Amino acid sequence: MKIVVIGGTGLIGSQVVTMLGEHGHEAVAASPSSGVNTLTGEGLAEAFAGADVVVDVSNSPSFADADVMNFFTVSTTNMLEAEKAAGVKHHVALSIVGAARLPKSGYLRAKVAQEKLIEGSGVPYSIVEATQFFEFVTRIADSATVDGVVTLPHGYFQPIAAVDVATVVARTAAHDPLNGRLEIAGPEAFPMDDFIRTALGRTVETGPDAEYFGTTLEGRELAAGEGAELSTLTYEEWAARA
Ligand SMILES: NC(=O)c1ccc[n+]([C@@H]2O[C@H](COP(=O)([O-])OP(=O)(O)OC[C@H]3O[C@@H](n4cnc5c(N)ncnc54)[C@H](OP(=O)(O)O)[C@@H]3O)[C@@H](O)[C@H]2O)c1
Repeated sequence: MKIVVIGGTGLIGSQVVTMLGEHGHEAVAASPSSGVNTLTGEGLAEAFAGADVVVDVSNSPSFADADVMNFFTVSTTNMLEAEKAAGVKHHVALSIVGAARLPKSGYLRAKVAQEKLIEGSGVPYSIVEATQFFEFVTRIADSATVDGVVTLPHGYFQPIAAVDVATVVARTAAHDPLNGRLEIAGPEAFPMDDFIRTALGRTVETGPDAEYFGTTLEGRELAAGEGAELSTLTYEEWAARA
């Protein structure tokens, strides 16, 4: 199959392109660096000509609330319109476990808006919802650091290796549309503050008002729900390999 990977130069996208190619598919990486811009629509019609599947693993360059909402709504609308025109038979998108449970976060609101556009588009689809990547843990800590002290909530998250996310995204793209969601998560859930303290050796404070990207966490909102597919690679094993 011809499978276009929007965001195919990114952390997840580059691995998805490689995996699909290894399974005999014609996997095409598409992003601004190859002349395909989902925000402006540039290059979409050409990229989607003859494509069976479009995988969207792009990300907003800016995480500011308005920018990220604009990115995921405009990009998704442009892609879905171009897919309909080109006769694409499957749209696969990567979203985030628990996004709908945390509406105070601008980033997560934008991911929910992205999911709704896909569900209402009429294009057959699969939404893979993943938990936070091991590779993203340092950015979580850095974004919550003031004067060398990290402030994060005590609520749980359940991080996963990007390679395990890419494996599921590639597998999903090669199969029939789910017309629904699939959740994937790492093997263990941890309180976020404890995890950053232990895994990164940072000084971490917490409290009822501590936020993760604009939202408090009360409990297990970011952790896997029932029926989620769990990977086996632990953070310790991943860190030892890295
Ligand atoms: N971080 C996490 O823990 C996490 C967890 C669950 C789900 N997710 C989701 O996973 C997805 C992929 O994340 P990632 O970390 O792999 O992303 P990433 O490494 O930051 O890569 C972003 C990709 O988006 C492309 N891109 C940026 N602007 C674009 C535009 N206007 N048109 C087309 N492509 C554009 C970039 O292309 P260039 O290289 O050409 O700039 C790049 O290929 C995101 O949707 C994110 O919401 C993330």
